[in-house]
Amino acid sequence: MNVAVVGAQWGDEGKGKVVDIYSASAKYIVRFQGGNNAGHTLVVNGKKTVLHLIPSGILHPGKICLIANGVVFDPKVFFEEVEQLETAGALTAPAHEVIRVSERAHVILPFHRLLDRLREEHAAKDKIGTTVRGIGPAYEDKVARRGIQVIDLMHEDVLFKKLKSAIEEKNILLKHYFREPEIEIAPLFEECKRLGEKLKPFVTDVRGLLIKALAAKQPILFEGAQGTLLDVDHGTYPFVTSSSTIAGGIMTGCGVGAQAVSQVIGITKAYTTRVGTGPFPTEIEETEPDTAQLIRKIGTEFGATTGRPRRIGWLDLVALKYAAEVNGLTGIALTKADVLNDFKELKLCTAYRLGASTLHELPSSISDLEALCPYYETIPGWGHYDAAKIKSLRELPAELQNFITRIEKFVGVPVVLLSTGPGREETLIVKDPFSEV
Ligand code: IMP
Repeated sequence: MNVAVVGAQWGDEGKGKVVDIYSASAKYIVRFQGGNNAGHTLVVNGKKTVLHLIPSGILHPGKICLIANGVVFDPKVFFEEVEQLETAGALTAPAHEVIRVSERAHVILPFHRLLDRLREEHAAKDKIGTTVRGIGPAYEDKVARRGIQVIDLMHEDVLFKKLKSAIEEKNILLKHYFREPEIEIAPLFEECKRLGEKLKPFVTDVRGLLIKALAAKQPILFEGAQGTLLDVDHGTYPFVTSSSTIAGGIMTGCGVGAQAVSQVIGITKAYTTRVGTGPFPTEIEETEPDTAQLIRKIGTEFGATTGRPRRIGWLDLVALKYAAEVNGLTGIALTKADVLNDFKELKLCTAYRLGASTLHELPSSISDLEALCPYYETIPGWGHYDAAKIKSLRELPAELQNFITRIEKFVGVPVVLLSTGPGREETLIVKDPFSEV
């Protein structure tokens, strides 16, 4: 039984915690897309760990964490994270035995980070609000067939040739368009060789490893990063990230067939957040600023990667249904319902108004997305309850049960996990996807 966990909104849904919980049932935990633009916050025994690149399952002993070919890989960040885990005593085996990196993953180099920053600065009011980690420029090079892969770091001739042609082109852009100093090849080449040498023990054929694990029926957890609405094909383009964040990304990002994934769990908060710019139909920053402020404060809605305050809005059921469709969700993990404890009433978006029309689906055009006005259903809040005593959905306050049932009915997917706080123990597992047949 293999399970995928994907973000069903604009990221930051609490995937880190859910992945950490499901990791207990998996042997392999795999990142298949994105890079260190992700920020997965885990709280175990009251201790907080934030991971950006290494799969969140790393905090469980005996698990193997894989970084597959679909990831854009920043070696510098990777080694910083490995060191952080080692210093914290979080690894129970040598790092290279429990973390494996695909030969085919594309490498994020300093000029990718530089270009990401310069593009954002020059875009002024049209900027995307990226994490400035070089993600977009690294994927651009990959698709343009001039990217540097992890394996190239270990082959001097190929590395030099590829760096030379990449730098020649980047330097034209830097000098003539951005009016910035040019990049020198020699120090970068030396640094890449050094990182390649250091990386050797971690590098493997991740795809081959996964195929063997599948044949041996060893349980695998695929850990999505960002969220469905940030998907490069199916998100609110162009205000998206540069990878396939949806479950479909697993096939290309790992080199496995569709049958490798048996359950797809979509994570959603009980409300919505978004960082960066772009359309957000249920945003309440202007219409209900006090409520937005309150949710941000209680939910500590600040980016784990950049520290930016997240934009706040009500739960958008139309967008969630869309996420269920594009991912083929088999279950929903509902997080941060506790943030809304004691709210007198809550809102759920069930349709949109666009001019004189009522829409029941997310439109594709960016200008339509920006002009949407949500239709809300207002439902009563659930006050306070002792989450520690709750062992099943039926024991929850009736209003919270009603909230969950409304989501399930609208989206057509059952809630299989309810998170009631940041800790591992503050979780109600309704149905374990690893035990589904
Ligand atoms: P990039 O992935 O850094 O290129 O950023 C593109 C868009 O995706 C921006 O709006 C970012 O704020 C957003 N984004 C990227 N990673 C995350 C994430 O892990 N959580 C939430 N938003 C993200």
